[in-house]
Amino acid sequence: MLGSFSYHNPTKLYFGEDALSYLKGELANYGKNVLLVYGSGSIKKSGLYDEITAALNECGKNVAEVSGVMPNPTAEKLREGVKLAKSHSTDFILAVGGGSVCDYSKAVSVSVHCDDDPWDKYFARFEEPDCEIVPVGCILTMAGTGSEMNGGSVITNHEQHLKIGHVFGDEVMPKFSILNPRYTMTLPKYQMCAGIYDIMNHICEQYFSGEDDNTSDYISEGLMRSLIVSSRKAVADPEDYEARSNIMWTATWALNTLVSRGKSTDWMVHMLGQAVGAYTDATHGMTLAAVSLPYYRYIMPYGVKKFARFAVNVWGIAPDGKTDEQLAAAGLDAMESWMKELGVVMKISELGAADEMIDGIADATIILDGGYKKLSRDEVVNILKASM
Ligand code: NZQ
Ligand code: ZN
Repeated sequence: MLGSFSYHNPTKLYFGEDALSYLKGELANYGKNVLLVYGSGSIKKSGLYDEITAALNECGKNVAEVSGVMPNPTAEKLREGVKLAKSHSTDFILAVGGGSVCDYSKAVSVSVHCDDDPWDKYFARFEEPDCEIVPVGCILTMAGTGSEMNGGSVITNHEQHLKIGHVFGDEVMPKFSILNPRYTMTLPKYQMCAGIYDIMNHICEQYFSGEDDNTSDYISEGLMRSLIVSSRKAVADPEDYEARSNIMWTATWALNTLVSRGKSTDWMVHMLGQAVGAYTDATHGMTLAAVSLPYYRYIMPYGVKKFARFAVNVWGIAPDGKTDEQLAAAGLDAMESWMKELGVVMKISELGAADEMIDGIADATIILDGGYKKLSRDEVVNILKASM
Protein backbone atom coordinates (compact mmCIF):
# COMPACT_ATOMS: atom_id res chain seq x y z
CA MET A 1 0.00 0.00 0.00
CA LEU A 2 1.18 3.51 -0.74
CA GLY A 3 0.72 6.04 2.03
CA SER A 4 -0.63 9.53 1.35
CA PHE A 5 1.76 12.04 -0.15
CA SER A 6 2.17 15.16 -2.21
CA TYR A 7 4.64 15.31 -5.04
CA HIS A 8 6.01 18.36 -6.78
CA ASN A 9 9.41 18.88 -8.31
CA PRO A 10 10.07 22.39 -9.61
CA THR A 11 13.44 21.79 -11.32
CA LYS A 12 13.34 22.14 -15.08
CA LEU A 13 15.77 19.80 -16.83
CA TYR A 14 17.58 20.15 -20.13
CA PHE A 15 19.08 16.79 -21.02
CA GLY A 16 21.36 15.81 -23.91
CA GLU A 17 24.29 16.92 -26.01
CA ASP A 18 22.71 20.28 -26.87
CA ALA A 19 21.51 21.03 -23.34
CA LEU A 20 23.89 23.99 -22.84
CA SER A 21 22.22 25.84 -25.71
CA TYR A 22 19.33 26.52 -23.33
CA LEU A 23 21.49 28.37 -20.82
CA LYS A 24 21.13 31.85 -22.30
CA GLY A 25 17.34 31.52 -22.42
CA GLU A 26 17.31 30.60 -18.75
CA LEU A 27 19.74 33.34 -17.73
CA ALA A 28 17.37 35.89 -19.24
CA ASN A 29 14.91 35.07 -16.44
CA TYR A 30 17.24 36.26 -13.66
CA GLY A 31 19.00 39.43 -12.51
CA LYS A 32 22.31 40.88 -13.61
CA ASN A 33 24.62 39.92 -10.74
CA VAL A 34 25.60 36.29 -11.13
CA LEU A 35 27.76 34.24 -8.79
CA LEU A 36 29.53 31.53 -10.79
CA VAL A 37 30.48 28.61 -8.52
CA TYR A 38 32.81 25.77 -9.49
CA GLY A 39 35.37 23.32 -8.18
CA SER A 40 39.08 22.91 -8.56
CA GLY A 41 39.61 23.22 -12.25
CA SER A 42 38.03 20.30 -14.13
CA ILE A 43 35.72 22.74 -15.95
CA LYS A 44 38.67 24.84 -17.08
CA LYS A 45 40.47 21.77 -18.39
CA SER A 46 37.42 20.55 -20.31
CA GLY A 47 36.69 23.95 -21.87
CA LEU A 48 33.25 24.19 -20.25
CA TYR A 49 34.31 27.25 -18.25
CA ASP A 50 35.02 29.19 -21.47
CA GLU A 51 31.67 28.25 -22.99
CA ILE A 52 29.80 29.32 -19.87
CA THR A 53 31.62 32.60 -19.35
CA ALA A 54 31.00 33.43 -23.03
CA ALA A 55 27.26 32.85 -22.52
CA LEU A 56 27.27 34.97 -19.35
CA ASN A 57 29.06 37.81 -21.17
CA GLU A 58 26.69 37.65 -24.12
CA CYS A 59 23.81 38.00 -21.67
CA GLY A 60 25.45 41.10 -20.15
CA LYS A 61 25.83 39.56 -16.71
CA ASN A 62 28.05 41.01 -14.01
CA VAL A 63 29.89 37.92 -12.79
CA ALA A 64 31.75 37.15 -9.55
CA GLU A 65 33.34 33.73 -9.05
CA VAL A 66 33.70 31.28 -6.19
CA SER A 67 36.25 28.69 -7.30
CA GLY A 68 37.88 25.85 -5.43
CA VAL A 69 34.72 24.35 -3.97
CA MET A 70 36.18 21.09 -2.71
CA PRO A 71 34.62 17.61 -2.64
CA ASN A 72 32.75 17.49 0.70
CA PRO A 73 32.47 21.30 0.89
CA THR A 74 33.32 22.77 4.26
CA ALA A 75 31.57 25.20 6.60
CA GLU A 76 34.58 27.49 6.27
CA LYS A 77 34.33 27.58 2.48
CA LEU A 78 30.59 28.17 2.81
CA ARG A 79 31.18 31.28 4.95
CA GLU A 80 33.64 32.57 2.35
CA GLY A 81 31.09 32.12 -0.46
CA VAL A 82 28.30 33.77 1.51
CA LYS A 83 30.52 36.79 2.17
CA LEU A 84 31.31 37.17 -1.51
CA ALA A 85 27.69 36.59 -2.54
CA LYS A 86 26.57 39.35 -0.17
CA SER A 87 29.14 41.89 -1.37
CA HIS A 88 28.23 41.08 -5.01
CA SER A 89 24.49 41.69 -4.35
CA THR A 90 23.96 38.32 -5.98
CA ASP A 91 20.75 37.85 -7.99
CA PHE A 92 21.47 34.38 -9.29
CA ILE A 93 23.90 31.52 -8.54
CA LEU A 94 25.18 29.31 -11.36
CA ALA A 95 26.68 26.05 -10.05
CA VAL A 96 28.95 24.21 -12.48
CA GLY A 97 30.28 20.87 -11.27
CA GLY A 98 29.28 17.82 -9.28
CA GLY A 99 27.16 17.38 -6.19
CA SER A 100 29.61 19.30 -4.02
CA VAL A 101 29.33 22.46 -6.11
CA CYS A 102 25.57 22.14 -6.41
CA ASP A 103 25.05 21.43 -2.68
CA TYR A 104 27.33 24.32 -1.77
CA SER A 105 25.45 26.71 -4.05
CA LYS A 106 22.16 25.83 -2.36
CA ALA A 107 23.70 26.49 1.06
CA VAL A 108 24.92 29.88 -0.15
CA SER A 109 21.51 30.64 -1.69
CA VAL A 110 19.73 30.40 1.67
CA SER A 111 22.41 32.41 3.48
CA VAL A 112 22.96 35.50 1.31
CA HIS A 113 20.08 37.41 2.91
CA CYS A 114 20.57 36.01 6.38
CA ASP A 115 22.73 37.27 9.25
CA ASP A 116 23.13 33.97 11.13
CA ASP A 117 26.15 31.76 10.68
CA PRO A 118 25.09 29.33 7.88
CA TRP A 119 26.54 26.22 9.55
CA ASP A 120 24.86 26.96 12.87
CA LYS A 121 21.49 27.82 11.35
CA TYR A 122 21.05 25.07 8.78
CA PHE A 123 23.39 22.23 9.75
CA ALA A 124 23.52 22.44 13.55
CA ARG A 125 20.06 23.81 14.38
CA PHE A 126 18.33 22.48 11.21
CA GLU A 127 16.27 25.65 10.84
CA GLU A 128 14.37 26.34 7.65
CA PRO A 129 15.19 29.42 5.58
CA ASP A 130 13.24 32.49 6.72
CA CYS A 131 14.89 35.01 4.41
CA GLU A 132 14.90 35.68 0.68
CA ILE A 133 16.44 32.75 -1.23
CA VAL A 134 18.68 33.47 -4.21
CA PRO A 135 17.75 31.24 -7.18
CA VAL A 136 20.25 28.56 -8.25
CA GLY A 137 20.81 26.97 -11.66
CA CYS A 138 23.04 23.93 -12.15
CA ILE A 139 25.25 22.63 -14.94
CA LEU A 140 26.13 19.11 -13.87
CA THR A 141 29.48 17.47 -14.66
CA MET A 142 29.28 14.34 -12.49
CA ALA A 143 26.42 11.84 -12.13
CA GLY A 144 25.73 10.55 -8.63
CA THR A 145 24.18 12.67 -5.94
CA GLY A 146 20.91 13.77 -7.55
CA SER A 147 21.65 17.26 -6.19
CA GLU A 148 20.66 18.62 -9.61
CA MET A 149 16.99 17.91 -8.91
CA ASN A 150 16.66 17.86 -5.14
CA GLY A 151 16.92 20.18 -2.14
CA GLY A 152 19.81 18.34 -0.47
CA SER A 153 22.89 20.17 0.71
CA VAL A 154 25.65 18.38 2.61
CA ILE A 155 28.33 20.40 4.42
CA THR A 156 31.33 19.17 6.39
CA ASN A 157 32.65 20.77 9.57
CA HIS A 158 36.17 19.51 10.16
CA GLU A 159 36.61 21.19 13.56
CA GLN A 160 33.52 19.44 14.87
CA HIS A 161 34.07 16.16 12.94
CA LEU A 162 30.59 16.37 11.47
CA LYS A 163 29.22 15.95 7.96
CA ILE A 164 25.57 16.95 7.92
CA GLY A 165 22.92 17.08 5.20
CA HIS A 166 19.96 19.43 5.21
CA VAL A 167 17.15 18.64 2.79
CA PHE A 168 15.65 21.97 1.87
CA GLY A 169 12.24 22.46 0.28
CA ASP A 170 11.10 23.20 -3.27
CA GLU A 171 12.16 26.83 -3.16
CA VAL A 172 15.83 25.85 -2.76
CA MET A 173 15.92 23.22 -5.51
CA PRO A 174 17.70 24.33 -8.67
CA LYS A 175 15.41 26.32 -10.95
CA PHE A 176 16.94 24.45 -13.87
CA SER A 177 19.65 21.87 -14.43
CA ILE A 178 21.60 21.26 -17.59
CA LEU A 179 22.52 17.59 -17.97
CA ASN A 180 24.89 16.71 -20.79
CA PRO A 181 26.12 13.11 -20.31
CA ARG A 182 29.16 13.91 -22.43
CA TYR A 183 30.52 16.18 -19.67
CA THR A 184 30.83 13.16 -17.39
CA MET A 185 33.26 11.42 -19.77
CA THR A 186 36.26 13.34 -18.38
CA LEU A 187 35.71 11.95 -14.86
CA PRO A 188 38.50 9.73 -13.53
CA LYS A 189 37.31 6.12 -13.21
CA TYR A 190 37.47 6.37 -9.40
CA GLN A 191 34.98 9.26 -9.38
CA MET A 192 32.76 7.69 -12.01
CA CYS A 193 32.48 4.48 -10.00
CA ALA A 194 31.99 6.35 -6.72
CA GLY A 195 29.09 8.15 -8.41
CA ILE A 196 27.65 4.88 -9.73
CA TYR A 197 27.73 3.32 -6.27
CA ASP A 198 26.19 6.47 -4.77
CA ILE A 199 23.29 6.13 -7.22
CA MET A 200 22.85 2.44 -6.35
CA ASN A 201 22.84 3.21 -2.68
CA HIS A 202 20.33 6.06 -2.98
CA ILE A 203 17.94 3.57 -4.49
CA CYS A 204 18.74 0.88 -1.89
CA GLU A 205 18.18 3.35 0.95
CA GLN A 206 14.64 3.95 -0.29
CA TYR A 207 13.98 0.33 -1.33
CA PHE A 208 15.10 -1.53 1.82
CA SER A 209 12.29 -0.34 4.05
CA GLY A 210 8.72 -1.57 4.32
CA GLU A 211 7.32 -4.80 2.89
CA ASP A 212 4.31 -3.53 0.95
CA ASP A 213 3.76 -4.09 -2.73
CA ASN A 214 4.03 -0.58 -4.12
CA THR A 215 4.84 1.16 -7.38
CA SER A 216 7.78 3.08 -5.90
CA ASP A 217 9.67 -0.19 -5.32
CA TYR A 218 9.01 -1.40 -8.86
CA ILE A 219 10.39 1.89 -10.21
CA SER A 220 13.44 1.41 -7.98
CA GLU A 221 14.02 -2.09 -9.34
CA GLY A 222 13.92 -0.78 -12.93
CA LEU A 223 16.38 1.98 -12.08
CA MET A 224 18.77 -0.47 -10.42
CA ARG A 225 18.64 -2.85 -13.40
CA SER A 226 19.37 -0.02 -15.81
CA LEU A 227 22.26 1.15 -13.63
CA ILE A 228 23.84 -2.31 -13.42
CA VAL A 229 23.76 -2.78 -17.21
CA SER A 230 24.98 0.75 -18.00
CA SER A 231 27.69 0.77 -15.33
CA ARG A 232 29.29 -2.33 -16.83
CA LYS A 233 29.26 -0.72 -20.27
CA ALA A 234 30.71 2.58 -18.96
CA VAL A 235 33.54 0.75 -17.18
CA ALA A 236 34.35 -1.16 -20.37
CA ASP A 237 34.13 1.97 -22.52
CA PRO A 238 34.09 5.33 -20.70
CA GLU A 239 33.06 7.04 -23.95
CA ASP A 240 29.88 4.98 -24.39
CA TYR A 241 27.34 7.80 -24.64
CA GLU A 242 24.35 5.51 -24.27
CA ALA A 243 25.70 4.14 -20.99
CA ARG A 244 26.67 7.57 -19.68
CA SER A 245 23.27 8.99 -20.54
CA ASN A 246 21.46 6.15 -18.78
CA ILE A 247 23.66 6.57 -15.71
CA MET A 248 23.05 10.32 -15.57
CA TRP A 249 19.29 9.98 -15.94
CA THR A 250 19.17 7.17 -13.37
CA ALA A 251 21.10 9.33 -10.89
CA THR A 252 18.56 12.11 -11.22
CA TRP A 253 15.56 9.84 -10.65
CA ALA A 254 17.27 7.93 -7.87
CA LEU A 255 17.15 10.95 -5.61
CA ASN A 256 14.63 13.52 -6.73
CA THR A 257 12.08 12.34 -4.13
CA LEU A 258 10.09 10.17 -6.58
CA VAL A 259 10.97 6.65 -5.44
CA SER A 260 10.36 7.39 -1.77
CA ARG A 261 6.79 8.58 -2.34
CA GLY A 262 4.25 6.78 -0.20
CA LYS A 263 6.74 4.57 1.63
CA SER A 264 9.25 4.51 4.47
CA THR A 265 12.99 4.77 3.83
CA ASP A 266 16.17 3.70 5.57
CA TRP A 267 19.25 6.00 4.94
CA MET A 268 21.50 4.30 7.52
CA VAL A 269 24.26 3.57 5.00
CA HIS A 270 24.42 7.31 4.33
CA MET A 271 24.49 8.09 8.04
CA LEU A 272 27.41 5.68 8.51
CA GLY A 273 29.15 6.86 5.34
CA GLN A 274 28.79 10.53 6.22
CA ALA A 275 30.30 9.92 9.66
CA VAL A 276 33.22 8.11 8.01
CA GLY A 277 33.52 11.09 5.65
CA ALA A 278 33.59 13.53 8.58
CA TYR A 279 36.71 11.76 9.89
CA THR A 280 38.46 10.89 6.64
CA ASP A 281 37.22 13.42 4.05
CA ALA A 282 36.96 10.42 1.71
CA THR A 283 34.97 10.38 -1.54
CA HIS A 284 31.27 10.12 -0.68
CA GLY A 285 30.36 7.11 -2.86
CA MET A 286 33.36 5.15 -1.58
CA THR A 287 32.38 5.70 2.06
CA LEU A 288 29.00 4.18 1.24
CA ALA A 289 30.52 1.23 -0.62
CA ALA A 290 32.83 0.45 2.30
CA VAL A 291 30.07 0.18 4.93
CA SER A 292 27.25 -1.23 2.79
CA LEU A 293 27.82 -4.97 2.83
CA PRO A 294 28.48 -5.30 6.57
CA TYR A 295 25.35 -3.21 7.18
CA TYR A 296 23.08 -5.04 4.74
CA ARG A 297 24.28 -8.48 5.82
CA TYR A 298 23.58 -7.52 9.42
CA ILE A 299 20.02 -6.22 8.85
CA MET A 300 19.11 -8.81 6.20
CA PRO A 301 17.39 -11.25 8.62
CA TYR A 302 15.03 -8.46 9.71
CA GLY A 303 13.91 -7.71 6.14
CA VAL A 304 14.57 -11.03 4.49
CA LYS A 305 11.59 -10.96 2.12
CA LYS A 306 12.70 -7.68 0.57
CA PHE A 307 16.28 -8.89 0.22
CA ALA A 308 14.98 -12.05 -1.50
CA ARG A 309 12.89 -9.90 -3.85
CA PHE A 310 16.00 -7.78 -4.56
CA ALA A 311 17.89 -10.95 -5.55
CA VAL A 312 15.22 -12.06 -7.99
CA ASN A 313 13.97 -8.76 -9.44
CA VAL A 314 17.24 -6.83 -9.55
CA TRP A 315 19.97 -9.47 -9.94
CA GLY A 316 17.97 -12.04 -11.90
CA ILE A 317 18.67 -14.91 -9.49
CA ALA A 318 16.38 -17.91 -10.11
CA PRO A 319 14.21 -18.53 -7.04
CA ASP A 320 13.69 -22.28 -7.70
CA GLY A 321 14.12 -24.38 -4.63
CA LYS A 322 15.75 -21.63 -2.59
CA THR A 323 14.58 -20.34 0.76
CA ASP A 324 14.16 -16.58 1.24
CA GLU A 325 17.34 -16.60 3.33
CA GLN A 326 19.33 -18.30 0.57
CA LEU A 327 17.98 -15.92 -2.05
CA ALA A 328 18.65 -12.87 0.11
CA ALA A 329 22.25 -13.95 0.65
CA ALA A 330 22.70 -14.63 -3.06
CA GLY A 331 21.40 -11.15 -3.91
CA LEU A 332 23.96 -9.48 -1.66
CA ASP A 333 26.68 -11.75 -3.07
CA ALA A 334 25.71 -10.59 -6.56
CA MET A 335 25.91 -6.98 -5.47
CA GLU A 336 29.33 -7.64 -3.95
CA SER A 337 30.61 -9.14 -7.23
CA TRP A 338 29.33 -6.11 -9.14
CA MET A 339 30.99 -3.73 -6.67
CA LYS A 340 34.29 -5.59 -7.14
CA GLU A 341 33.88 -5.37 -10.92
CA LEU A 342 33.54 -1.58 -10.56
CA GLY A 343 36.52 -1.50 -8.23
CA VAL A 344 34.83 0.50 -5.47
CA VAL A 345 36.50 0.65 -2.05
CA MET A 346 35.25 -2.14 0.23
CA LYS A 347 36.98 -1.21 3.51
CA ILE A 348 36.91 2.02 5.50
CA SER A 349 40.54 1.39 6.53
CA GLU A 350 41.45 1.97 2.87
CA LEU A 351 39.79 5.39 3.13
CA GLY A 352 41.89 6.46 6.09
CA ALA A 353 39.75 5.23 8.99
CA ALA A 354 41.85 3.91 11.88
CA ASP A 355 40.83 1.75 14.87
CA GLU A 356 41.11 4.69 17.25
CA MET A 357 38.56 6.64 15.17
CA ILE A 358 35.78 4.05 15.51
CA ASP A 359 34.27 5.53 18.67
CA GLY A 360 34.25 9.02 17.23
CA ILE A 361 32.74 7.81 13.94
CA ALA A 362 30.05 5.97 15.90
CA ASP A 363 29.28 9.16 17.86
CA ALA A 364 29.00 11.12 14.60
CA THR A 365 26.58 8.53 13.14
CA ILE A 366 22.99 9.71 13.32
CA ILE A 367 20.79 6.67 14.06
CA LEU A 368 17.56 6.61 12.08
CA ASP A 369 14.65 4.21 12.53
CA GLY A 370 13.14 3.79 9.05
CA GLY A 371 14.99 0.61 8.10
CA TYR A 372 14.41 -3.02 9.05
CA LYS A 373 16.31 -2.70 12.32
CA LYS A 374 16.99 0.33 14.45
CA LEU A 375 20.67 0.02 15.37
CA SER A 376 22.02 0.54 18.85
CA ARG A 377 25.32 2.38 19.26
CA ASP A 378 27.05 -0.96 19.92
CA GLU A 379 25.67 -2.31 16.65
CA VAL A 380 26.98 0.78 14.85
CA VAL A 381 30.42 0.10 16.34
CA ASN A 382 30.25 -3.56 15.25
CA ILE A 383 29.30 -2.61 11.69
CA LEU A 384 32.14 -0.09 11.54
CA LYS A 385 34.57 -2.72 12.85
CA ALA A 386 33.31 -5.20 10.25
CA SER A 387 33.90 -2.50 7.60
CA MET A 388 37.59 -2.15 8.55
O1 NZQ B 1 36.54 20.17 -8.36
P1 NZQ B 1 36.67 19.68 -9.75
O2 NZQ B 1 37.94 20.06 -10.38
O3 NZQ B 1 35.48 20.01 -10.60
O4 NZQ B 1 36.77 18.07 -9.64
C1 NZQ B 1 35.72 17.26 -9.18
C2 NZQ B 1 35.99 16.64 -7.81
O5 NZQ B 1 37.36 16.50 -7.57
C3 NZQ B 1 35.66 16.04 -10.05
N1 NZQ B 1 34.82 16.22 -11.23
C4 NZQ B 1 33.50 16.54 -11.28
N2 NZQ B 1 33.09 16.53 -12.55
C5 NZQ B 1 34.16 16.22 -13.32
C6 NZQ B 1 35.28 16.03 -12.49
N3 NZQ B 1 36.49 15.70 -12.95
C7 NZQ B 1 36.63 15.55 -14.27
N4 NZQ B 1 35.59 15.70 -15.14
C8 NZQ B 1 34.35 16.02 -14.70
N5 NZQ B 1 33.33 16.13 -15.57
O6 NZQ B 1 35.08 15.03 -9.27
C9 NZQ B 1 35.43 15.22 -7.91
C10 NZQ B 1 34.23 14.97 -7.04
O7 NZQ B 1 33.23 15.93 -7.26
P2 NZQ B 1 32.04 16.07 -6.21
O8 NZQ B 1 31.16 17.17 -6.67
O9 NZQ B 1 32.59 16.14 -4.84
O10 NZQ B 1 31.31 14.66 -6.34
P3 NZQ B 1 29.82 14.25 -6.09
O11 NZQ B 1 28.96 14.64 -7.22
O12 NZQ B 1 29.84 12.83 -5.72
O13 NZQ B 1 29.36 15.12 -4.81
C11 NZQ B 1 29.69 14.71 -3.52
C12 NZQ B 1 29.05 15.61 -2.47
O14 NZQ B 1 27.61 15.55 -2.56
C13 NZQ B 1 27.06 15.15 -1.29
C14 NZQ B 1 28.18 14.30 -0.72
O15 NZQ B 1 28.04 14.10 0.67
C15 NZQ B 1 29.40 15.10 -1.07
O16 NZQ B 1 29.60 16.15 -0.16
N6 NZQ B 1 25.75 14.51 -1.47
C16 NZQ B 1 24.70 15.28 -1.82
C17 NZQ B 1 23.42 14.77 -1.90
C18 NZQ B 1 22.24 15.57 -2.25
N7 NZQ B 1 22.38 16.83 -2.61
O17 NZQ B 1 21.13 15.08 -2.21
C19 NZQ B 1 23.12 13.37 -1.57
C20 NZQ B 1 24.32 12.49 -1.61
O18 NZQ B 1 24.02 11.34 -0.88
C21 NZQ B 1 25.56 13.12 -1.08
O19 NZQ B 1 25.59 13.06 0.33
ZN1 ZN C 1 24.76 9.65 -1.57
